Parts: sequence; C-alpha cells; structure tokens
Amino acid sequence: MDLAGFGYDLLSIFVFILPAMVANGTPVIIHGLPPIDMGRRWRDGRRIFGDGKTWGGFLSGIIAGLVIGGIESLIIWHNILIDALIASIGALLGDLTASFIKRRIGLERGAPAPLLDQLDFYVGALIFLYLFTGKTFNIYAELVFAVIIYALHRLTNYTAYKLKLKSVPW
Ligand code: CTP
Ligand code: MG
Repeated sequence: MDLAGFGYDLLSIFVFILPAMVANGTPVIIHGLPPIDMGRRWRDGRRIFGDGKTWGGFLSGIIAGLVIGGIESLIIWHNILIDALIASIGALLGDLTASFIKRRIGLERGAPAPLLDQLDFYVGALIFLYLFTGKTFNIYAELVFAVIIYALHRLTNYTAYKLKLKSVPW
C-alpha cells in the first residue's frame, strides 16, 4: 500500500472538510431567526425539519466555514474560499436532509439517530465537493476520516452538553 499517498489523501480531506466541520458546529452556539421550515408541516402532519434548523444557524455556519477557508488559504498559500463555501453549504444541507429523514420516520427534534447525526454533514460536504468542484479522495481515506469525525462529533457534543450549550449529549 502507498502509505505516503494515503497520508496525503487524509491530509487533503482534512483541509477541505475542516470548513464543513466548523460550519456544522457553529450553529450550536450561534442560531436564531425563524426555523428554516417556517413552522410548516409535511403531509404526514410532522414538521418538515423542526425547530432545530434555523436560518440563523444556517447563515452562521456558512460564514464560519468561509472564515476557516480564508485562514486555510493564507496558510497553504492557495485560494480555497470557493471550496470552503461549497463544502459548508453541502454540510448544512446534509444536516438538513438528516433532520428531514428523522422527522419522516417520526423522530422528534433532538432524538438520537446513530451514524446519521454524526456523519450527515460529512457526506453532504463530500457530495457537494464532488458535484461542484469535481474533487474525489481515496475511499479508504474517506472511511478512516469518517471514523475520526464520528469520534470527534461524540466528544464535542458531549462537551457542548456539559457546557449546557446542548440539551442532549449527542
Ligand atoms: N442549529 C440551527 N440551525 C441549523 C443547524 C443547527 O439553529 N441549520 C442549532 C439548533 O439550535 C440545534 C443545534 O444547532 O438544536 C444542534 O444541531 P443538531 O444536533 O443538528 O439539531 P437537533 O436539535 O439535534 O435536531 P434534529 O433532531 O433535527 O437533528
Ligand atoms: Mg442532531
């Protein structure tokens, strides 16, 4: 196995996914404004996305992802602002899609959905990076990074719960 190539892919995923990770986490701290679904319900009578998805969270996430992309651009001496924007939008839409799925299967806002809760934004960001910039990464590096994201997500959400930023530890 080409270890150097694998390491390079892990590092590239880190660079392009870091804005998405920050875009996904910022709404926990900065949110508000009306819910994205404006309180509307789907035909099953349940909320489209629920009160956990707000316009303020969506915007703060995108701005935070762009700031990280800007800092990274300065460090690596290469403009990746567009990539950061695309990854951040993908991350937030991935998270929104997960909430849509959770509501359709009858899970209330904040109810745990293992794997979906931790990896929704990551899959969304990877799909958006592929669709709008053509970027692909080694599939094994993507899977290894998914495990890292899963562990980090569990850890940060538990910390946010302890700090009373979140009402549930997942
Ligand atoms: N948040 C937000 N807007 C978003 C995403 C997140 O305001 N677009 C905020 C909400 O306060 C939300 C918190 O970030 O409660 C954590 O997000 P998440 O865990 O994804 O939401 P949940 O409350 O768990 O809701 P769901 O069951 O829909 O995932
Ligand atoms: Mg959630």
